[in-house]
Amino acid sequence: MVKPIARREFLAASAGAAAPDRFLPRVGLVGSGGRGTGLLRTLLALDIAAVPAICDINAQNLEQARDAVRKAGHPAPEGYGRHEQDYERLMAREDLDAVLIATPWEWHARMAAHGMRAGKYVAVEVPAAITVEECWQLVDTSEQTGMPCMMLENWSFLRPNLALLNMIRLGLLGEIVHCHCAHSHNCIYWYFDKEGNPRWSGEHLLRRNADPYPTHSLGPVLSWMDINCGDCFAQLTSTASRSLGINNDFRKKFGSKHPAASRRYRQGDIVTSVVKTARGNTIVINNDMQLPRPYDNRWMIQGAEGLYDEARNAVYIAGRSPEYEKWEPFPPYQDKYDHSWWKALAVGSPDFGHGGTDYLELSLFIEAVRRGGPAPIDVYDSVTMSVIIPLSEQSIAQGSAPVACPDFTRGRWKTRKPSFALEG
Ligand SMILES: NC(=O)c1ccc[n+]([C@@H]2O[C@H](COP(=O)([O-])OP(=O)(O)OC[C@H]3O[C@@H](n4cnc5c(N)ncnc54)[C@H](O)[C@@H]3O)[C@@H](O)[C@H]2O)c1
Repeated sequence: MVKPIARREFLAASAGAAAPDRFLPRVGLVGSGGRGTGLLRTLLALDIAAVPAICDINAQNLEQARDAVRKAGHPAPEGYGRHEQDYERLMAREDLDAVLIATPWEWHARMAAHGMRAGKYVAVEVPAAITVEECWQLVDTSEQTGMPCMMLENWSFLRPNLALLNMIRLGLLGEIVHCHCAHSHNCIYWYFDKEGNPRWSGEHLLRRNADPYPTHSLGPVLSWMDINCGDCFAQLTSTASRSLGINNDFRKKFGSKHPAASRRYRQGDIVTSVVKTARGNTIVINNDMQLPRPYDNRWMIQGAEGLYDEARNAVYIAGRSPEYEKWEPFPPYQDKYDHSWWKALAVGSPDFGHGGTDYLELSLFIEAVRRGGPAPIDVYDSVTMSVIIPLSEQSIAQGSAPVACPDFTRGRWKTRKPSFALEG
């Protein structure tokens, strides 16, 4: 099993080698805005990769990122940012093993495909793609080039989600039948600037009505339900509520005369999608990102013998839970079935973002690069999570009509075995 690398272990592995640098994967970063800088800081703090090249078309963001590398005691990376296609020059560098992509959504698939064609391992931020065609482009390119393409879906690595995965694989919940998941996070601050103008992300809310951010909800669900390795998404319907949240928010901030308060946003406040799988299981996915509310993922997964409810932090397992049809606390189960990835992290290991999940996903990706093995999240799972965006848009536009889900594995889900986060 691939283990996350800690700095110490990594240095030990390199000790005595004639050229220790050979063991240090060399990574190019494309997009050094909010998230790209966060990923860079995690990489630098972990000291598990060299970053000799950074690309961003925003000169200030580029310089800040180069400066962060310099301040961490490394040579300043070469900067690329002459124009929007300058990432191609970065990816042409022969000394890079991998690229991390953290640009606006419309760039992800073409940049990731270009990276694979240049022979690089690709880690791309969420979502990996935003159209059905782009999803296929990533699958085709990964298959043709043999290069892995991993979407950086951090919630797949959350500690309770991985403990639950172990429990499901041991059969504690019985055969899985149904799951609920949500991305409930008021992100108006991220979609719009302080004056209420749409950022690149907010432009999507003006133009389309879809589930724009389905990967944080679906991350753990794919492995819980053996999607692409025993089952697959077959059909989806999506329904959007009306859109009140953004106008309300700007009315309160700027008054009703402000253009942002009356501008028409196509994006409904709550989008509910229902996926039916080939095996006959169901998944409800909620998107809820523009109403005032606390953060929530509302994961709930139900099998023939029991269920887990994240909001209650509880499970009920028939014949095992002490009281008939009463919840019992989840934390003791988490301790008992804790995933070895988390056990391997030293007690008190630093939280480099999202409760340590960013640490895990990045260190596992870099370890895959170092070994030349498969990335922890493969291209099929990456696009299966992402394709909910265009499919939900299509269903909503057709009055919640059922839409067929593409089978990116081309039928191989029937024989593929689970590979994500296997123990032992
Ligand atoms: N996994 C997570 O928890 C998480 C959190 C936040 C954001 N994200 C994702 O990260 C990505 C980036 O989001 P962000 O908040 O950092 O956005 P951002 O706007 O802060 O950063 C994007 C950067 O990309 C640069 N850019 C745009 N076009 C480019 C091009 N053609 N070539 C090079 N650089 C280009 C911009 O100048 C900017 O610096 C998005 O996909 C977002 O969904 C993920």
